Amino acid sequence: MEVIIQKDAATAIDLTARLICDAVQEKKDSVLGLATGRTMENLYANIVKRYENDEVSFSRCATFNLDEYVGLEPDNKQSYRYYMNDLLFNKINIDLEETFLPNGVAADLAKSCQQYEEKIIDKGGIDIQLLGIGNTGHIGFNEPLSSLASRTREKALAPITLEQNGPLFGDLEEMPKRALTMGVGTILDAKKIILLATGKTKASILAKAVEGPITSMISASALQLHPNCVIICDEDAAEEL
Ligand code: GLP
Repeated sequence: MEVIIQKDAATAIDLTARLICDAVQEKKDSVLGLATGRTMENLYANIVKRYENDEVSFSRCATFNLDEYVGLEPDNKQSYRYYMNDLLFNKINIDLEETFLPNGVAADLAKSCQQYEEKIIDKGGIDIQLLGIGNTGHIGFNEPLSSLASRTREKALAPITLEQNGPLFGDLEEMPKRALTMGVGTILDAKKIILLATGKTKASILAKAVEGPITSMISASALQLHPNCVIICDEDAAEEL
């Protein structure tokens, strides 16, 4: 595991965007694993800027998102499909048909999760998986006690996650209590992983994930097992390393 500490969030984000865009330029049909959350908003803005400056083309890329809330239609503003279309897909030259998210409104959620896994394999596997980290140490929505071998499945959200993401919904009652998420095992199958963490609120959980024991209580600690994983953080998030 390589840890790269940048002086502030803007430089950490810029470096992450550059690594992703360089990789896409080198392998035009890259399969990208994408993440959501507040940390990623500025990252996607940075990637869009690079696209507008003709630094990168996504016309042959496919993408798979980590997770989606159960029960939210794609046109619901709180859904991760809406987030991705709004912040990235509608602003770059990617074929929307090649952008995939778990289907939180499928009639058979278990079956659609299995199909999601198959789709990733069909596309040749994920070249670069982008990750954030939640306050429970989750990657995707792999809350504490997720098996390190888990695959895409339905997961109940932990109280801390409801607290962390609830404000985005305005009314906490509106926030789904369950989500579909790639498993820790699915994530570890990616050829390369980049985890981006910025801000003081991530300092304690990042130190546990990077330097603590590998444990299913902190899903991100499983990244220590990955042969090609980079953690990019700012000085605030690195404070307890
Ligand atoms: C959500 C997502 C995670 C993300 C986390 C961090 O819980 N499911 O993939 O890493 O948010 O969010 P933020 O960047 O807002 O701190």
